[in-house]
Amino acid sequence: MPITIAVGTQWGDEGKGRVVDLLSDTADLVARFNGGDNAGHTVTVGPTTFKLHLVPSGIIHPQTVCLMGNGMVINPLSFLAEVEALTAAGVDASPARLFVSQAAHLITPAHRLLDQAQEAARGAGRIGTTGRGIGPAYVDKTARSGLRAGDILDEAGLPAKVQAHVEQVDSLIRQLYHGEAIDVAGISAAFVEKARRLAPYIADAGAIARKNLAAGKYLLAEGAQGALLDLDQGTYPFVTSSCTTATGLFGGLGIGIQPVQRVVGITKAFQTRVGDGPFPTELKDDMALRLRGTGANPWDEYGTTTGRPRRVGWLDGVLLRYVIEISGITELAVTKLDILSGLPVLKICTAYTLNGKPNSEFAVAHLGEYQPVYEDLPGWSEDVTSARRLQDLPSAARAYLHRLEEIAGVPVSIVSVGAERDQVIRAG
Ligand code: IMP
Repeated sequence: MPITIAVGTQWGDEGKGRVVDLLSDTADLVARFNGGDNAGHTVTVGPTTFKLHLVPSGIIHPQTVCLMGNGMVINPLSFLAEVEALTAAGVDASPARLFVSQAAHLITPAHRLLDQAQEAARGAGRIGTTGRGIGPAYVDKTARSGLRAGDILDEAGLPAKVQAHVEQVDSLIRQLYHGEAIDVAGISAAFVEKARRLAPYIADAGAIARKNLAAGKYLLAEGAQGALLDLDQGTYPFVTSSCTTATGLFGGLGIGIQPVQRVVGITKAFQTRVGDGPFPTELKDDMALRLRGTGANPWDEYGTTTGRPRRVGWLDGVLLRYVIEISGITELAVTKLDILSGLPVLKICTAYTLNGKPNSEFAVAHLGEYQPVYEDLPGWSEDVTSARRLQDLPSAARAYLHRLEEIAGVPVSIVSVGAERDQVIRAG
């Protein structure tokens, strides 16, 4: 029962879609276990770019069965739009191979309105959420008052449940946030009508996973967001509301703890963050513009989900070591190495100081107080986008990867050097 878990090691946007696509070529099952349509996983295959927010990126490989686990929060409208786009692109996203857990929670338009009202009320203390209703849906789940995908199958009971939820949000928005009343009846009726179309996809995703694992099938788990956005281990409160580390797979899919063959930590060759919160290696000068790009290319650092420019900075080795520990990462997939080409000097943060003194006691809660200590490494001028083996890379690029391995304490097994599916080096 081989399992591979692929997770982000930063604040999301590490290039998980393309790595999961790569790892899916031999997978029988590909499963998402956390988050919702706040995620944006991009896969480029020839002239087609797939932007997936909910459906596992492994759907593009026709042999896979795709599972959306109980740890997810699912907006039926986004799900249906994604299925439609996949179908139009010739990908089979039918209920024959795509299953949504009956225990996954639903995101409604009311959750989205509440998310936006809460962000507005936070003012300067805002989290910078994606506005997709993620937090409010997980709050309802934890409060044991949420709507679950399985509720859609209760044809008679669904309208009243949805209406009660929208009424509750309406009164919160009006009374607590002094916002405008929402059209309770209209929103509820439209949501019920759409949500019902999800019915054919609803299944016991956990049972499907357990049965297939017992039969020796290979499961690839696709984490969403990154470890530093984890609700517990991340930069709280500037986090998302789910478990984004590899450990979230078991509870978020409904499988028992069992051996995992590989935990692939997807790491961008530099650091980015959307939304607010501490970021010790953040750059604000010309180098930031250079790393971010102008937005003209699909791979420039602008959010797949929101279009927001991402904050950028040098790779943070201290955070990487922390994430390797909390996620049990066994190897790294380094993405966007090509973006570093042409920079004369590269920096990696290898330590922090606190109040001007070396600091060896790292605590994520104090991240905002640390100053980064950098190590300089020589850059390279060559274009690396056509490299397909490690030996095709300039020696300075190999040295950068080697230093990264030393800092991380795990090997680099995959390096991506461009957005195309084949622009990759399998090093391990
Ligand atoms: P939420 O998940 O929409 O509640 O947003 C909480 C924080 O997580 C914000 O800083 C978002 O920008 C960030 N976030 C959520 N999903 C992603 C993602 O897929 N990539 C990058 N950042 C994300």
